[in-house]
Amino acid sequence: MDYLQITGGAKLSGSIKISGAKNSALPIIAATILSDKPVKLTNLPNVVDIRTLLKLLDILGSRVEHKDTVANINNGTMNSTKAVYEIVSQMRASILVLGPLLARFGECEVSLPGGCAIGQRPIDLHLKAMEAMGATIEIKGGYVRAEAPNGLQGAKIVFDKITVGGTENTLMAAALAHGTTTIVNAAKEPEIVQLCEMLADAGVKIDGIGTSEIVVEGTGQKPLTFKDVEIIPDRIEAGTYLCAAAITNSTITLEKVNPAHIEASIDKLEAMGCSFEIEGEKITISGTSRLKPISLVTTEYPGFPTDMQAQFMAVATMAIGESVIEERLFENRFMHVSELNRLGADIWLKGSVAAVKPVAQLYGADVMATDLRASSALVLAGLVAKGVTNVHRIYHLDRGYDNLEGKLSALGAKIKRLSE
Ligand code: UD1
Repeated sequence: MDYLQITGGAKLSGSIKISGAKNSALPIIAATILSDKPVKLTNLPNVVDIRTLLKLLDILGSRVEHKDTVANINNGTMNSTKAVYEIVSQMRASILVLGPLLARFGECEVSLPGGCAIGQRPIDLHLKAMEAMGATIEIKGGYVRAEAPNGLQGAKIVFDKITVGGTENTLMAAALAHGTTTIVNAAKEPEIVQLCEMLADAGVKIDGIGTSEIVVEGTGQKPLTFKDVEIIPDRIEAGTYLCAAAITNSTITLEKVNPAHIEASIDKLEAMGCSFEIEGEKITISGTSRLKPISLVTTEYPGFPTDMQAQFMAVATMAIGESVIEERLFENRFMHVSELNRLGADIWLKGSVAAVKPVAQLYGADVMATDLRASSALVLAGLVAKGVTNVHRIYHLDRGYDNLEGKLSALGAKIKRLSE
């Protein structure tokens, strides 16, 4: 198994290019199921999760050509609607094929994703939405079996809780349903907006894009013809490198970012004393030797993203006062706390709130990655820890960060990938 070895203390400088957003690419790959014609996706990140979902399409009978950042997908040859356990158990986001498979073929079977390190993460809201659109749902043998032999019917879906994946599944299902679907309390993330734009570019009438109420006119099971899609920049990857500059008090430039998507992170880093120059798709951040403590609460977009909580906690360990971080979206997303404390941090947890007390120095140690973003927090801490930090179980990182060690090395970090 691979691990990352980081020797802390190096200043960062220079510029790197941000990759396409994993969390936008995944629903977009799933949405291609709504078409029986070839579709080309560009700016895909080179990460394991993307390869996993493309492999699922391949298992379902699609023709997939994937090289570097480009995939040509033809779902015209799809001959199965069963998303098998072997794939879904590797990646929860595989549940995103539920809506499009059901909408196009009138039936599908998708393995239940189960829990994950950051919490229980149920899919009840996805299933309720499909039922409201006329599907019959049965759970048997670890699989969700969904049927709508005459196609899905447009409906009013009111989400009790804002759900990114649930909104995406419903949008895709609604695109081929008969009649109008209204999604109330929809998620507003940039990834949702890009999915809506992809569907709208294929001729689906959608109102309220980017708002909490989205209205979709379905095509009545007529498959779509998509234009080429260029995946938007990864706002979480960008935010993680901004944190790398902040924790090491460095100046770096990120290219190919959408600054509007990372306002919440920029605001918090400014409050901590970092400064920014923003020009088109470029952001230059300069750190400070006197990082101020922060108070933050994770919420849905445009609020502060839960996917940046762990990285900010790493940065907060270097602030000159006590920071308070509250996690509101996932019940168990503090697995990085004990690992950061192994590096000498002084973090106290009470329920969903963490108090991050200041420490003069972190010290290198062996630490274990527990989930995707927690892993990047450990890498950030390793960049300033005195001595050597080994981050184990980095398969979590490989799921979502495109060439993390290559990009950090290009900025001057002392980091290498080794095998156990
Ligand atoms: C997506 C992102 C993930 C991010 C999360 C929140 C992808 C591939 N993943 O995950 O990186 O951390 O949004 O921004 O885009 N919930 C239910 N029932 C459901 C669905 C969700 O109770 O049927 C709950 C979840 O447990 C969680 C909250 O709703 O507490 C938000 O989850 P959701 O927005 O659905 O997250 P994902 O789409 O899984």
